[in-house]
Amino acid sequence: MGGVRLAAVTSRLADSAYLRACRGEPGDRVPVWFQRQAGRSLPEYRAIRGTGSILDAIAQPDLATEITLQPVRRYGVDAAILYSDIVVPVHAIGFGVDIKPGVGPVVEQPFRSGADLERLRPLDPEADTPYVLQTVRNLVGELDVPLIGFAGAPFTVASYLIEGGPSRNYTVTKALMHGDPQLFGRLLDRLADLAIASVRSQVEAGASALQLFDSWAGALSREDYRRFVQPHTRKVVDAVADLGVPRAHFGVTTGELLAAIAETGVDVVGVDWRVPIDEARRRIPRPVTLQGNLDPGVLMAPIDVVESQVRAILDRNAGHPAFVFNLGHGVLPETDPDVLHRVVEVVHDEGRADGPA
Ligand code: CP3
Repeated sequence: MGGVRLAAVTSRLADSAYLRACRGEPGDRVPVWFQRQAGRSLPEYRAIRGTGSILDAIAQPDLATEITLQPVRRYGVDAAILYSDIVVPVHAIGFGVDIKPGVGPVVEQPFRSGADLERLRPLDPEADTPYVLQTVRNLVGELDVPLIGFAGAPFTVASYLIEGGPSRNYTVTKALMHGDPQLFGRLLDRLADLAIASVRSQVEAGASALQLFDSWAGALSREDYRRFVQPHTRKVVDAVADLGVPRAHFGVTTGELLAAIAETGVDVVGVDWRVPIDEARRRIPRPVTLQGNLDPGVLMAPIDVVESQVRAILDRNAGHPAFVFNLGHGVLPETDPDVLHRVVEVVHDEGRADGPA
């Protein structure tokens, strides 16, 4: 039943500004969306979110659907991102993960030894995360823009499981990576399988694109990234190639890793604000779409400064069609929603996506 309708939705959105840009095709505007646009700074989010763990909110499809739609309505962004979290699969298989407000993911019993691999059984998305798939299905019926599904990339999820929570220096993670590369590899391989199962199910339920968040991969040297992390991310990228949707990647402080990230085969590479977008393009020796890269901190500056920084990014991109405007990381909680709305206006009014590829 749903197959025919989903196929129609998919073809209707194929011409959307976001999906065109992911394919590097010229269009009539530069698409824009914001990482962490769902939740965070929106008063209408705080009004309905409740006070429990975000994992409880994610498990309520009607609530998660509404939260995903809120920024699309308010900002007029060109894509929606599913309201979920990178730790949802490991939580769902019972690894013992929660998300503490103002802190992030915390793990009761961190990953320490080979025995802990047993705690990472395969994910059966229909049985373990039916609420995620229900949210995706709800959204596909309501949205006029593509829905981006996502997963945490193996390294970033591993860092939470190993450290037991957010970390500044990833000392325990690096100790395991260098001290027992074989176990570290088996852990990342399992996490790759979880990511694959999760994103495949999201696309089968109707998501139009995928993003892998390897937020903390920038903590690694290029050599260590290529040796310990890249093969596992590439496994995920390869395993979803047949789905035919764009595959995006994001991490912070990845300036020195951009070429190595592109080697995983992703279609879209996220860039943080530390590397100008034209410089990022020069660092990547294959044609990919770039996504970025306004410093989220700049959104606290006076509006004329925000506007001129948006224009500076558009100027550096110089009309290249393979470009998606975004922040260089996620929306910060103290951001004024009116400022984000103005950013969307400036990108739509002044961005060009008709230049030479
Ligand atoms: O708007 C969106 O981007 C969609 C939803 C989304 C969330 N988390 C919801 C969320 C997405 C895509 C994520 C991904 C995610 N989660 C990442 C990768 C992106 C990045 O920022 O680098 C990471 C590292 C996590 C882990 C995580 N979850 C952190 C570090 C935090 C912040 C803790 C805090 O309160 O500051 C969370 C919690 C979280 N996930 C919130 C939201 C909206 C905020 C807390 C809440 O509303 O309860």
